Amino acid sequence: MRGDEFSFRDELAARGISRREFMSYCAGVAALLGLPASAAGEVAAAMETKLKPAVVWLEFQDCAGNTESFLRASKPSAAEVILDLLSVDYHETIMAAAGHQAEQALASSLEAHKGQYVVVVEGSIPTGADGAYCTIGGRSALQIAKEACKDAAAVIAVGTCAAFGGLPAASPNPTTALSVSDAVPGIKTLINLPACPVNAENLTAVLAYFLTYGRWPATDHYSRPLFAYGKTIHDNCERRAHFDGGQYVEHFGDEGHRLGFCLYKVGCKGPVTSQNCPNIRWNEGTNWPIGCGHPCIGCAEPNFWDRMTPFYEHLTGVPGFGAAADIDRIGLYATAAVGTAFTAHALVQLGRKAYDKRKAKVSVATATAAPAKTTSPARAKPAEADKPEADKPAPAAEKGREP
Ligand code: SF4
Ligand code: F3S
Repeated sequence: MRGDEFSFRDELAARGISRREFMSYCAGVAALLGLPASAAGEVAAAMETKLKPAVVWLEFQDCAGNTESFLRASKPSAAEVILDLLSVDYHETIMAAAGHQAEQALASSLEAHKGQYVVVVEGSIPTGADGAYCTIGGRSALQIAKEACKDAAAVIAVGTCAAFGGLPAASPNPTTALSVSDAVPGIKTLINLPACPVNAENLTAVLAYFLTYGRWPATDHYSRPLFAYGKTIHDNCERRAHFDGGQYVEHFGDEGHRLGFCLYKVGCKGPVTSQNCPNIRWNEGTNWPIGCGHPCIGCAEPNFWDRMTPFYEHLTGVPGFGAAADIDRIGLYATAAVGTAFTAHALVQLGRKAYDKRKAKVSVATATAAPAKTTSPARAKPAEADKPEADKPAPAAEKGREP
């Protein structure tokens, strides 16, 4: 739905979303975008009054995980309503039309909204065998992408496959799969939202920013919005105090794992992965990989299937690893990593407090459950043999990522 005939408030009411919930959602979007609290009103006004852009959603070589993420609300949310109201004129996975009708919908939308529409691309674009690995309506993904991106106001590549090639482009890349930016060079406004899959909150926030200010948010050298990819997972991780305090999970299921220690030694790629997962989480803020005890596998980074595997082996050369073993070094790491506001001592104390709290919880739980056999000490210090090879560059350094 789009245009003057549409009442946004009515639509929210019909979906059971109160004004208060909507305003609280707008405040959340403003915070996510790094805007002052006062911007919530501007975001709300833009949502209510501005003409929503037409969107064509192209799905190429992927698993449809981004579409799943887009649809995955357990109950209608304000974000969902906003996405629904974007007038997704073409989305072959969810649209009712099929065959020639669907192709006609795409052609009509591109013609009717020339220069104004937004293209969302999901999946990589296979270029081998003249594009024969992915064809829709007799045309290759490459042909369709070129045609749709040519007159778009902006192209948003959602998910790591579209942004960086993802799994289809992993070695040996049998279909010669490319990212959108490589397959269709010269796109005027391209926004990459990598992750496997994209977090719908980030997609909504990008669109909300555009609706509010009539321009797209600032991006980094990978065309990723800074508000969502300006910091590493490690920067904001809830287990960071344990990393700085030298408290690591040694094996899945050990006591450190149950106590919520840092997952670095079991393969966490959070130190070299940029995304706001710790802040916005997934499934409407329910949880996120590290929150439920699994290391970050670096799913939002370029070439992560090649660079981040084996997933359960730890990175090397990450500053601060095992720092608690040497109290003189921790101040240096802490200063570089989290700023001067925290002293080394404060970090260690923070880690200890979190540890004590979790230990108390685990003690209560284990007192009422059957005794479990554990092999790791509660506060294992990193063994010499496990320390990183400082001279071996971490994946980020290999690719020239900014620290
Ligand atoms: Fe969090 Fe991973 Fe960093 Fe540990 S290594 S603090 S689990 S991001
Ligand atoms: Fe992906 Fe790591 Fe976030 S695996 S979902 S970037 S925590």
